[in-house]
Amino acid sequence: MSEKIGLVTGSYGSGPILPCVGTLAAVERLDYTGLCMSDGPNGVNRQDSVSVFASGITVAATWDRRLMYERGFALGEEFRMKGVHVLLGYVNPSALHSQILDSQPCRPSTGPMGRHPRGGRGWEGFGPDPYLAGVAMNESVTGIEATGVQTSSKHYIGNEQETQRNPSTKDDGTVIEAISANIDDRTLHELYLWPFANAVRAGTASVMCAYSRLNQTYSCASSEILSTILKDELAFPGYVVSDFGATHSTVDFAEGGLDMEMPGNVTAAGFPCYFGDKLLEAVQSNKVSEERLEDMARRVMTPYFRLHQDKDFPMIDPATGPVLFVTQLGHVQIPSMAGMFTEVPAIDVRADHARGIRELGAAGTVLLKNVNGTLPLTNQTSFALFGNGLPDPTIGSAYVPASGEDAPEGYEIGAFDIGGGSGSVRHTNLVSPLEAIRTKVKALGGRVQLLFDNNEIAGGRFTTIYPTPQVCLLFLKAWATEGADRPDLNLQWNATKAVESTAALCPNTIVVTHGPGVVLMPWADNENVTAILAAHYPGEEIGNSITDVLWGTVEPSGRLPYSIPKHEADAGPPILVVPDNTTDPGAWTEDFVEGQMIDYRYFDANSGKEPLYEFGYGLSYTKFDMAPGLNVQLVGGSLNQYVNKSMGIAPGGMVDLWTNVAVVTVNVTNTGGRAGSAVPQLYVSLPQDTTPPGTPVKVLRGFNKLHLRKGETKQATFELLRRDLSYWDVQEKEWVIPRGQITLLSGFSSKDLQANTTISV
Ligand code: BGC
Repeated sequence: MSEKIGLVTGSYGSGPILPCVGTLAAVERLDYTGLCMSDGPNGVNRQDSVSVFASGITVAATWDRRLMYERGFALGEEFRMKGVHVLLGYVNPSALHSQILDSQPCRPSTGPMGRHPRGGRGWEGFGPDPYLAGVAMNESVTGIEATGVQTSSKHYIGNEQETQRNPSTKDDGTVIEAISANIDDRTLHELYLWPFANAVRAGTASVMCAYSRLNQTYSCASSEILSTILKDELAFPGYVVSDFGATHSTVDFAEGGLDMEMPGNVTAAGFPCYFGDKLLEAVQSNKVSEERLEDMARRVMTPYFRLHQDKDFPMIDPATGPVLFVTQLGHVQIPSMAGMFTEVPAIDVRADHARGIRELGAAGTVLLKNVNGTLPLTNQTSFALFGNGLPDPTIGSAYVPASGEDAPEGYEIGAFDIGGGSGSVRHTNLVSPLEAIRTKVKALGGRVQLLFDNNEIAGGRFTTIYPTPQVCLLFLKAWATEGADRPDLNLQWNATKAVESTAALCPNTIVVTHGPGVVLMPWADNENVTAILAAHYPGEEIGNSITDVLWGTVEPSGRLPYSIPKHEADAGPPILVVPDNTTDPGAWTEDFVEGQMIDYRYFDANSGKEPLYEFGYGLSYTKFDMAPGLNVQLVGGSLNQYVNKSMGIAPGGMVDLWTNVAVVTVNVTNTGGRAGSAVPQLYVSLPQDTTPPGTPVKVLRGFNKLHLRKGETKQATFELLRRDLSYWDVQEKEWVIPRGQITLLSGFSSKDLQANTTISV
C-alpha cells in the first residue's frame, strides 16, 4: 500500500534532493523510475539549452492546425530529450529547496479562457473562444504525446483571475478562502469545459485542477467537476494532479477525485502535505476506500505505460538540478553555493526548432491596419527604430518569476517574447527585433536611427533624429505574468504618448505590439499611423518573425483569437477585488452572470457596442473573396435531435457527440496581387426561440487556413460534429440539437460574414 501512496504523492524521490521537482519516487523493485515533471506550456521551464516557443495566444492567432501540432511535437521532443523521469539527487537539500519546487509535465493550458483580458495568464492559453481553444488543445496534446511525453491540461476549471487564486490567512488566523467562480451548468459545458473535452478526447494523460474554487468548493476537491463531469461524463481515464499547494485536506480531496498531490511530501516547499502518510492513515481507517487508492494508482500508471515511458526513456539531463537551483535562487543572496552541486553543461535539445518558432511567430502576427499598402516594405532605406520593445532585455536572459505585483510592467528595456511565471522559459537564444531588422536594413543598403527610451519618445525629444526617416517602426509592449492580473489593458511604458509623438514626427509610423493578447489602441485611427501589427508573444525568434512579415517574405496570416475593444469597459467583467480588510472567509465569490457572453458573444448580444477590431479579423497582403453560396450536406440525410447513446462513451464523452453530422463547403478566391493565406470561418447560430435564454447569437464552429496563389480558388470545408450544433440541456443533462432553423454563416471574421444557409432537425 505504501508503494501506491508513493505513486500518488509528490516527494523528494529516492535521492537526498532531486534535480526536478514535481517528482514521484521510483519503485526499484519494479524497475519503475518514478516521474519527473517540468512546466510548459511554452518550453522546458527553468532549464538551459532549450527553445523558447511561441505562447499559447500566438498559437491560437495562427488559426493553423498544422503549426499547432508541429509546435506540440517540437515541445514534446525537447521535454523527452531532457528526460524528465529520472531522479538524480546530487544537490544538497536545504531550506532553499523550497524555492525550486516548481516543475511539472508539459501542460497545454486552456485555463484561464480569458473571461478577463486583464487576467495574468491569458497568454499561456489559447484565447476566449472554446472552439478555437479546443482545436489548439487537441493539436497540442496529440503533438506532444506523439513524442511519448505526457501532457497535463490545466487549470481545471474557472481559474480566470490571478488575484486571490489561493486562500490567504489574516493575522488573527482567519482563512480567507480563494476566489470562487460560480458558473452555471450550461455555461460551464458550452464555454469553460469545452476545450478540456477536446484534450480528454485527444488523450491527455493528466488534468491539473486549479487553485481556485468552483461553485464554492475547491476545484481539487469537487466531486462534481472531478468525478461526475471529468471522469464520468467525459470518461477521462488519466489522473488529476493538484496545482502546487492546491490540496487543503486529505479525505475530501481524495474522495472528491484528486489522484495526485503536488508538490506532496516535500516539507521544504512550504505547503502542508495531505496525501503521503495522511492518505495511508485515511485508507487504513477506511475514511478513504482502498478501491479509491487503487483507482488513483491505476490512473497515474496508465499513461506511463500507454506512452511506453517504461521503455528507452532518456535519462534526465544532469544539468537540470543546477539550472533549476540557480534560476530560482539567482535573486537571493547565497553565502556559498560552492559544493552544492557540480556545474555541468546542459544537453542542447533545441535541434532545428528555431525554424518552426520563426514560422509560427510570423503566422501568429495579425495585421490590423495597412493604409495604402504601407506594408510590406519595399525599397525604403531610411528607418527609425523606436521603442523599448526592440533590443535584448537589459536584464539578460533571466527567467522571470511570477512576481507581477512588484513589476506590473515587467522589465523596462527589451523585447517581450514571452510572459512571466511558471509558463516562462529561460533564454538560450533570442533574436531581438533590433538585431534582425538592423541586419535586414544593412543588407538593403539602408540606415537606421535608434531611440529605445519610451519616455524620450513620448516627450518628443527627437533631437538627434535627422533627416526625418521614411519609415518609423515603433515597438511597444505589454507584460503579463502568473501571480498578478494586468493593471489595465494599455500598452505599457508610456506607450500611448510614444505613439502620438512618433506619429507627429513621422507621417509613416508603423506600430508593432508585443503582448499577452488584448491591448487597447486609442491611437489606431491616427492618420500618421499607417500600419499596426499585433505580434503577441512569439518566442525566441521574435526579431526574425517580425522582419519576415514587415518585408513580406512571409504574409501576415494571423487572425485575432479575441476581440480588441475600444474601451476597457467592453473587455469583459472586471477582475474581482475584495478590500484587504475583509474578515469574511467567503468574501471572494464571483457569479459569472454574463454566462457565455464574453468576447464576440458579448458584442453580438449588445448591438450598440462595436469592437475596434473583432474576433477573427486580420488583414493580408492580398485580397480574398468568398462565393455567396454555402453548400451544406447532412451526413445521413437528416439531423436527429438526440445523442445516440447506444454508441457508448469514450474519452471525450458520448461517442456520438463526435459524429460528423454535416459538411459545409464554400469557395474562396485570392483576388489580390500575390499569394496568401485566407482564414474562412464558420459560425453557427442556434435558434433563440427553441433554446433556453443565454444562447449566444452565434458561435465559431469551424475554420480553415487556405494557402492560395494569386487568382486561385479553393474550397473551404467545415465538418460539423453533433456537439457543434448542440446546446447543453441542464434539465436532461445532455447535449441536444434544438428544433427550428439553425443558421450557418461563413466569412473572414466574426463581423465580416459573406455567405449563409440554414438547416434544421
Ligand atoms: C502554477 C502551475 C504550475 C505550478 C508548478 C503553479 O503556481 O499555477 O501552472 O504548473 O505552479 O510550477
